[in-house]
Amino acid sequence: MADLNTVLLSDTSRGIRAATSMLHAGAQVAFPTETVYGLGADARNDRAVAGIFEAKRRPSFNPLIVHVTDLDAAHTLARFTPQAQNLAERFWPGPLTLVLPLRPGAGLSDLVTAGLPTIGIRVPAHPVAQSLIGGFGGPVAAPSANLSGKVSPTTAEHVFDGLRGRIAVVVDGGPCAVGLESTILGFSADDPVLLRPGGISLEILSQRLGREIAYADDTTITAPGQMRSHYAPSAEIRLNAEAPEDGEIWLGFGPDRGIVAEGRNLSPSGDLTEAAANLFSALRDLDALAWSSGLRRIAVAKIPAHGLGEAINDRLQRAAAPRNEDET
Ligand code: TXA
Ligand code: MG
Repeated sequence: MADLNTVLLSDTSRGIRAATSMLHAGAQVAFPTETVYGLGADARNDRAVAGIFEAKRRPSFNPLIVHVTDLDAAHTLARFTPQAQNLAERFWPGPLTLVLPLRPGAGLSDLVTAGLPTIGIRVPAHPVAQSLIGGFGGPVAAPSANLSGKVSPTTAEHVFDGLRGRIAVVVDGGPCAVGLESTILGFSADDPVLLRPGGISLEILSQRLGREIAYADDTTITAPGQMRSHYAPSAEIRLNAEAPEDGEIWLGFGPDRGIVAEGRNLSPSGDLTEAAANLFSALRDLDALAWSSGLRRIAVAKIPAHGLGEAINDRLQRAAAPRNEDET
């Protein structure tokens, strides 16, 4: 991989225009979305998309999410089922990805879909993502802008830490408001199936449809790339802890009743939205603290399982899973 001079651009119209021309030139451009920072490239350009996998050191060609500015643009790439249409009308732009049948002749690189007959597609809400994709005028393939297997970036600095020298540009749009990747739904016929919990809770999605949404299991569709040991910090992680033990760093949630330990609190008031926004930054900070302090384990407080808690627990379980065991 060439040692690129990674440029940090501000989110001014000038910065975004420069980033847009880099996309046109086939470069990889990191940009903010409301969920996490994405590493974008022209979804119709094989070499540009291959550059994403190279920059991330992604070992296998998992399908990528395609980002467009609105539902009309999405219709040119995917066939919407009635329930998918209903959800898109209500939740786009926003942290929801729909996996739908790919429209033949959509013109996307096969690397984006990993050769599948489906496409994962979403309309991001972040104004910088909107102007970048709008200015570019085409579909932008973008996974999270981190090295494969690492925690997703929620600031431009996180992106820089992981990908400096490996990508052309990072557009700095400040910290991401949601802080967790999008919720991914697949459809088996018109029945929605949860492929990845994320920035919109299952309760809210089910409410809109007036029905339960099933979890994907091995017999339905799966989301390739959802490896068990993903988002791996170097420190060991102990979940559902009541309190830190000796030698542990503490990641709290809710009031820290009398706990005095080094660490952070995801949300002292016990707010799951705030906890989601802080999660990946906190894991990075505590991992760094683990290195510098010699404390090698992070104890994490129990996080409620409802609302965004489901996605938070999903990411924490991946962070705590044994390393490299099932990484491909
Ligand atoms: O919030 C997000 O979703 C962020 C921002 C940048 O938009 N993106 C993101 O992308 O998290 P990534 O590559 O880290 O996760 C994309 C996952 C794939 O690993 C795969 O599980 C699923 O989306 N996916 C994409 N296309 C799919 C398809 N056609 N069929 C099944 N799963 C698909
Ligand atoms: Mg990712």
